[in-house]
Amino acid sequence: MFSNVIAIDGPAASGKSSVARLIAERLHIPYISTGALYRALAWKWFGLGRSLEAMNGDGMTDFLNSTRLACKCAPEGGLFEVEIDGQCPGEALHTQEISAGASRIAALPEVRSWLLDVQRNMAGDRRIVMEGRDIGTAIFPDARHKFFLTASPEVRAERRLKQSGEPFDEAALKRVAAEIAARDEQDRNRKTAPLRQAEDAIFLDNSAMDLEQTLQFIMDAVKEKDIRISRNTVLHYRVPYADTDQMGVVYYANYLKYFEMFRTEMMIAAGESYQKMEEHGYALPVIEAVCHYKAPARFEDILEITGRVAECRGVRVKIECEIHCRGKLLAEGYTIHACVSREGKPVKVPPNITVLWEEKK
Ligand code: DC
Repeated sequence: MFSNVIAIDGPAASGKSSVARLIAERLHIPYISTGALYRALAWKWFGLGRSLEAMNGDGMTDFLNSTRLACKCAPEGGLFEVEIDGQCPGEALHTQEISAGASRIAALPEVRSWLLDVQRNMAGDRRIVMEGRDIGTAIFPDARHKFFLTASPEVRAERRLKQSGEPFDEAALKRVAAEIAARDEQDRNRKTAPLRQAEDAIFLDNSAMDLEQTLQFIMDAVKEKDIRISRNTVLHYRVPYADTDQMGVVYYANYLKYFEMFRTEMMIAAGESYQKMEEHGYALPVIEAVCHYKAPARFEDILEITGRVAECRGVRVKIECEIHCRGKLLAEGYTIHACVSREGKPVKVPPNITVLWEEKK
């Protein structure tokens, strides 16, 4: 099992937050910008009248224990806001003072370990985009998708300066690039959670790419891996007593339920659950179901259920299934579904299903 997170790590101004927000919008899922969590802690700290230097003192444990961090994420992407002790600091998180405070507070092991569970709980087991510095290495080392974004210090300096909206010259560009390079050095070499690429992350230097190209690169990689994982879905299921009949074997109708359980897993693995698909206005009622029974399954057997999208034509989709136990084929069959809109009108099978179509292995 993978965690369903799309992790995007990388240094400052590498385009992480912009791309994370856009991916969330395209995939209709929430996103979390974890830098904002460190920033919110710094905001509260300074708001209590405490100094930057005092962050390294004794008061941090009590400070963390009295803090409640939450985030407001739109389930369909687009919006992300941090709430600290019931307040949303919003734009106040993006001042120079808060950046310096966030950087200092982020280097404290105690803070990072406190935020570990906070971040995991915020994500839960949903499909979500999370960007930061250590998502793929420390927070979700088992994330299904991991990316490490970077760009040259000069390109990042230009992005930073453009972001500020102020006019700037060559000298300012050089100065900010040097600051960024120095900060990278510090982030890579700090003792606690140094910034580094997870071994299994996809590396992308987007110095010569614009935001749309970066977005496309990540979307393609996500889609390609989702399809691969979905096509290899194997559902293991231990037969409960409740599934058996008076003859002590699995009641024949249950095999259709197992087919349905497989379809659910296959779609979740592909990145869009059946429930999400319904929310987007599609339904796939069964119009034909076939099952060939080869051998019985019994109480406590572990079934291995596999299958595939075997055909997509117009408004119809055929999904095949096989059920094995200890290497022996117990049942095989298929269901044919008509794709209908919320109003019950036949509509073309949506792309998230057609991309899964494959020939039998
Ligand atoms: O991405 P940002 O600039 O908003 O991050 C603010 C600070 O928090 C920055 O100094 C890096 C740090 N940070 C971190 O150490 N780990 C994260 N997962 C996210 C941010």
